[in-house]
Amino acid sequence: MSIIEAEDRTALPPSIRVRLAGPRDCTALAALLDDPAHAREQVLTWLETPGTTLLVAQSEIGVLGVAVLLTRIMPKPGGGMHKVVEVDNLVVHPDQRGQRIGRRLLAAVVEWARQRRAAQVEVLVGEANRDARRFYEAFGFAVSADRLVLAA
Ligand SMILES: CC(C)(COP(=O)(O)OP(=O)(O)OC[C@H]1O[C@@H](n2cnc3c(N)ncnc32)[C@H](O)[C@@H]1OP(=O)(O)O)[C@@H](O)C(=O)NCCC(=O)NCCS
Repeated sequence: MSIIEAEDRTALPPSIRVRLAGPRDCTALAALLDDPAHAREQVLTWLETPGTTLLVAQSEIGVLGVAVLLTRIMPKPGGGMHKVVEVDNLVVHPDQRGQRIGRRLLAAVVEWARQRRAAQVEVLVGEANRDARRFYEAFGFAVSADRLVLAA
């Protein structure tokens, strides 16, 4: 199993590395999520689900952030199929935001996707979450208009 190492010692502290999550990270990851009552069960489900990958940003003080990735084979707009990695969730610990940890975690996500020959990385961000939108747009993500959605 390949481990992602995205060390950046030139940036301001904290120095982080990005690695795959495992069961031993369950408590730390649950603490990053909004709904503490169900967070542990959610993390365990993610860890057990094929096609779901958790990358964690780790510093010497512990786990500072997580990216939850869904890998799918999807139809291409022009025909054929391609691999798409969706960022289902990306969270940095509230005390550690604004230090480029999210950006470095997202860079590791893109590198992880490239290594697996994914054609694109995508994320769904609601209109209301303007901060997250700016975060992804600052990285280079652009709105794609080819999705049509119907409430089921
Ligand atoms: C969105 C989130 C992951 C950003 O993580 P972060 O480590 O604080 O972000 P970074 O420090 O790496 O910021 C990188 C760039 O994103 C943009 N950005 C980040 N946070 C921002 C905010 N609150 N408002 C506006 N722009 C923001 C900036 O352009 C920033 O670049 P700069 O440092 O040159 O200003 C973090 O705020 C978070 O966990 N939010 C709650 C969960 C969430 O909404 N996740 C996204 C939906 S999946």
